[in-house]
Amino acid sequence: MAIFITGSTGYIGAHIAANLLDECGEPLNLLVRAKNQQEARERLWRALQLHLDFAAFRSALESRIRIFLGELTNARLGIESGEYAELVRTTDSVIHCAASLNRKSEKNCLNVNLRGTLQVIELAMRARDNHGLRRFSHVSTVAVAGQRQNEIVEEDSAIDWERSDYDPYARTKKFCEHMIQELLPDVPRTIFRPSIVLGDSRRPETNQFEMVRAFVFLASLPVLPFRANDRVDIVPVDYVANAISHLHLKEKPQHEIYHLSSGKDSETYAELTAALAAAQGKRAPTFAPVLERSTKNMVNLLSGRLGKTGKMATLLKVFLPYLTWNTVFDNSRVANEMGRPAPFSKYCFALLKFSRENHFLYPYKPWPSDAALDFSASQSAAQGTRR
Ligand SMILES: NC(=O)c1ccc[n+]([C@@H]2O[C@H](COP(=O)([O-])OP(=O)(O)OC[C@H]3O[C@@H](n4cnc5c(N)ncnc54)[C@H](OP(=O)(O)O)[C@@H]3O)[C@@H](O)[C@H]2O)c1
Repeated sequence: MAIFITGSTGYIGAHIAANLLDECGEPLNLLVRAKNQQEARERLWRALQLHLDFAAFRSALESRIRIFLGELTNARLGIESGEYAELVRTTDSVIHCAASLNRKSEKNCLNVNLRGTLQVIELAMRARDNHGLRRFSHVSTVAVAGQRQNEIVEEDSAIDWERSDYDPYARTKKFCEHMIQELLPDVPRTIFRPSIVLGDSRRPETNQFEMVRAFVFLASLPVLPFRANDRVDIVPVDYVANAISHLHLKEKPQHEIYHLSSGKDSETYAELTAALAAAQGKRAPTFAPVLERSTKNMVNLLSGRLGKTGKMATLLKVFLPYLTWNTVFDNSRVANEMGRPAPFSKYCFALLKFSRENHFLYPYKPWPSDAALDFSASQSAAQGTRR
C-alpha cells in the first residue's frame, strides 16, 4: 500500500517525497500535472534533483514511485477511471501538500485550494470505505490565524471565524482545514501549519526564490521600515519536511495540529540584520518604523507596474502584512517531538549568497538524453510486478 502525495513537484512537497523515499519502504502514489508520463518524470526529476542523483531517482521511479497524471480541480482529480480505481485501491494514507499560493488571485485560491482539497477528501473517503485510511495529513499555513498584531498564537486558538484574513490564500486554507475536520471525522488527521518557509539549514541551495527575492531586496536596504524588536517567524524547509514526514509515519502523533514554526525563539529584525551585516563585513541598517505606512502606500502604488520595480512592489505588497504583524506561532508541540528548528541567522547569509550568485535561478540538470526510451521499458516491467 502507498502514500498518496499531492504537490510533490513543489518546494515543500519534493522535500517530503525525498524524505519518505529515504526513511520508509512504502511506495509513493504521486499526483503530477503533465501531458504524459515522460513529461511527469521530467518534472519530478527537476523537483527532486536537489535531493537525489539521477541513478537514485531512476531507481525510485522503477521501484517505489507511481505517477498519476492529474489536476486537483477536475472531477476524480482528472485521473482516468481505471487509474483512479487503482489509486483508491492502493492508497493507504494521504499527504495533501499542493495548493495555490497565489495570494493575489481569489479565483485560483478558490479553485485549487477549496475545490481541489474537496477532490482529495473524496479520494480519501473512497480509500477509507474500500480498505481503511491510516492517516490524512494536510499541509496548511499559520496564515489561517488571520489578521493579528503582537501575538503568540497557539494551535487550538489560531482559527477565529470572526477575524478578517489578509488575503484569499489565508481564507481558503482556513476553510480547507474546516472541510477536512468536518468531512473526515473518523480518519486520523494531522494538520501542519508552517510559518514563513525560507531556505534550508543544511545547505545554501534552494529552488524556490519568491520569498528569497523579497528577503535579499530588504537585506540590501540601508533603512528598514520595521520596528527593530519585532520578531519574524521563519523556519527552514528541512525542518518542515522532516516534521511532516516523521509525524505522518508515526502511529500516534501526540496532537492533531502542529505549528511548524520558530515560535518564541523567532529572531528580531535587529538580530537578523546584525548577523547578516557581520557575515558581509557591512554596517547594519537603521530602523525607521515611522516609514511603515508610507512604504505600504508606495508599494501599493508601484505594484502591478511593469519592470523590476513593479515586480518587487507586487511581491512586497503580498508579504508586508506578514512582516509587520510581529506575531509568532507557538511551536512547543513540534519541538517536543522533533527538537527546535535552526535559527534563520545561522543560515541566512549562505542562502543570500547562493541566490545572488545564481541570479535567483537553480542550476537544473537536464533529463539525461538517453534515459527516456529504455526507462519506460524498465518501469512498465517494474509496475507489473509491484504491489
Ligand atoms: N512556502 C511557504 O513559505 C509556505 C508556508 C506555509 C505553508 N505553505 C504550504 O505548503 C504547501 C506547499 O507549498 P510550496 O511552497 O511547496 O508551494 P509550491 O512550490 O508552489 O508547490 C505547489 C505544489 O502544488 C501543486 N499544484 C498547484 N496547483 C495544482 C493543481 N491545480 N493540480 C495539481 N497540483 C497543483 C504544484 O504543481 P505544479 O508543479 O504542477 O505547479 C506544486 O507541486 C502549500 O499547501 C502551502 O500552503 C507554504
